[in-house]
Amino acid sequence: MGEIDEAFVQVPDHRPKLSTIEVDEIPVIDLSASETEKLAMEIGKAVEKVAKAFFHLPIEEKRKVKRDELNFTCYHDEEHTKNIRDWKEVFDMLIQEPTILPASPDPDDEELEATLTSGLRIPLSLETCLEYCRVVEKLAFRLLELISISLGLAANRLGELFKHQTGPLRLNYYPPCPFPELALGVGRHSDGGALTVLVQDDVGGLQIRSQSDGEWIPIKPILNAYIINIGDNLQVWSNDLYVSAEHRVVVNSQRERFSIPFFFFPSHYVTMKPLEELVNDKILMKYKEYNWGKYYVTQNGSNYKKLDAENVQIEDFKDPESV
Ligand code: OGA
Ligand code: NI
Repeated sequence: MGEIDEAFVQVPDHRPKLSTIEVDEIPVIDLSASETEKLAMEIGKAVEKVAKAFFHLPIEEKRKVKRDELNFTCYHDEEHTKNIRDWKEVFDMLIQEPTILPASPDPDDEELEATLTSGLRIPLSLETCLEYCRVVEKLAFRLLELISISLGLAANRLGELFKHQTGPLRLNYYPPCPFPELALGVGRHSDGGALTVLVQDDVGGLQIRSQSDGEWIPIKPILNAYIINIGDNLQVWSNDLYVSAEHRVVVNSQRERFSIPFFFFPSHYVTMKPLEELVNDKILMKYKEYNWGKYYVTQNGSNYKKLDAENVQIEDFKDPESV
């Protein structure tokens, strides 16, 4: 079986217990009256085929479209979460063509860059994936409306921050791993954007951390159901009324696994801070403001390698005066 590369090994506290509890406490929302969801499921199946064909290509072919510190789309097999290497391969493409982002993390550099995935020669059907994005973004906007209303805001309050959305559609591939007790497919994290709409196959492995007791709860695959993660943006906008979900992926020693997250990220020029409607003299802003584009570009540049410091997090903007 050989030895595991040390870069993948989790510290003992974060190693998964392979026998986990079974619970049914993840709420399921039925939006099935809508044609959008049915269409999205169908195109989603086509994207799964595209992903499978791509990840089964020889490694040399995949590495021809490898991402680097300048180009943050395409293939990547060395992502680190919290400075431990993930047991996975990914392919990222931009949901919006082109996507406008700051050219560098430098706060004084005002230059912007427009990036296209479609200009690249890549060995997979981008059209199928972009068709899927167009349907899933409808679902994402609908969810944002429901969340806005739940916060007592106008239905379009949050949606208008996404006119030039910046997120990727990601194809995740978790090869079988001979060391499932030492490595993770993705280490614990919360997603940085507003929402993630994820489809997973029937293998299982995604776990969410219970806020009440810190236990890791498996998210069992449900046929034709999406998993919706609340991300860090919603935690900040809602001033902690919504909390972003901490999650991770355990790997399987026998079966490969595929998942497809759609990351719904706002326009680069959005200033992230609690919404004014939700704060007052008594309810103080829990976060200091930051620019979404610079934050995202800073995070993007730092998950290639093992660093000494942690990646930038929303906790870095927590206002100590407010707690
Ligand atoms: C992610 C992620 C979960 C999964 O890509 O951010 O959390 O089930 N993926 O693959
Ligand atoms: Ni995630």
